[in-house]
Amino acid sequence: MRLKGRRILIGVTGGISVYKICELVRLLIKANLEVKVIMTESATKFIAPETFRVLSRNEVLLDVFEYSQPSRVEHIALAEEADLFIIAPATANTLAKMAHGIADNLLTCCYLAFKGPVLVCPAMNSRMYSHPTTQRNLKVLKENGVHILEPESGSLACGAEGKGRLPEPETIFEAAIQLLSIDDLKGVKVAITAGPTREHIDPVRFISNPSSGKMGFALAKAAKRRKAQVTLITGPTWLETPLGVKRVDVVSAQQMYQEVMKIADETDVFIMSAAVADYTPKSFSEKKIKKEEGISCIELERTPDIAEAVGKRKRRNQILVGFAAETHDVIENAMNKLKKKNMDMIVANTTTEAFQKDTNKVMLIDKEGNIRYLPEMPKEDVADEILDEIALMLEKLHMQTT
Ligand code: CTP
Repeated sequence: MRLKGRRILIGVTGGISVYKICELVRLLIKANLEVKVIMTESATKFIAPETFRVLSRNEVLLDVFEYSQPSRVEHIALAEEADLFIIAPATANTLAKMAHGIADNLLTCCYLAFKGPVLVCPAMNSRMYSHPTTQRNLKVLKENGVHILEPESGSLACGAEGKGRLPEPETIFEAAIQLLSIDDLKGVKVAITAGPTREHIDPVRFISNPSSGKMGFALAKAAKRRKAQVTLITGPTWLETPLGVKRVDVVSAQQMYQEVMKIADETDVFIMSAAVADYTPKSFSEKKIKKEEGISCIELERTPDIAEAVGKRKRRNQILVGFAAETHDVIENAMNKLKKKNMDMIVANTTTEAFQKDTNKVMLIDKEGNIRYLPEMPKEDVADEILDEIALMLEKLHMQTT
């Protein structure tokens, strides 16, 4: 994670979902970020400050008149030291104070003194959330540049069903990381193919491969963090859609081809990380084939080559990046694919290094034949290395056109 050492101030207000913030703090600390928690008095009724002190490895402050050092004006110092201020859960009461500039506790004083990005996660009963006053206050906060992570719908602590649940810690974490990340892909439209495809023989049998989709999903998450507009066209996988990414689910190579072609004109960057099946059964049996019927061979035909089709129609200002997972002659095979499919860069590795794993060891080969060897690293880091190269390519294209 490239954000090591960035400082997060978390303001916790009094709601039953405070327990989720414990996990959020844990996730932020695990990602090597620095966390400081401040609490309102009512938050302490739900959870003891001691819990946050241990989890954040930092003191927890509750009151404007408390200070960690006598020379500090605590709320000003806390606001100056943080790169991001998260207020979660944010009660209707705290939202109202924030919207109207009422600074009657440490949290609201910090909010007024803070100059950086603010992420607010409202959580309350659905009637309180939908009340015109709360909605008006949220509108004011949005107009003031505050980022609001909308609450989710579901069963609430009071027994009611509706909108008001605090999103899961992983979602708040991702929203926070997106706010802290660089924005070198802002406005860039990125389409990513991911996962395996399934070529069905009958409703219950198919030809496929062991691709997990992890590399493509990591790319989508990383591109979104860098503020790209991301469409992820994916074959079957259990992975969760990264926050803010548009996901299109497909099953077969033909469907993936159609979905890519639909957005081919409006896309700036194509990243083809899917392990697309090269062959599909010539005929599909609508009914499950019974073993008594016997099946001696399955006749196959070629699927469309999506990367090649994109490469053929690629405009000068579009970028195409592909993958090559090889068992042998990695560089030679990858270079041939790059040329044949008119790619700008290809990410090559040996098959055993990638499938199903959380890490990948790849080399990045460009059109000129330059090779960058990367050590084995988490797929999220590989994704950032690939996007660094893409950002450079976009910059060069931009310089050529201006
Ligand atoms: N690809 C694609 N559509 C296909 C086959 C491959 O878009 N029908 C893309 C992959 O997503 C990858 C690149 O092309 O970015 C290379 O895929 P790979 O399977 O390694 O190569 P193939 O061209 O299928 O060649 P081979 O299977 O013979 O190695």
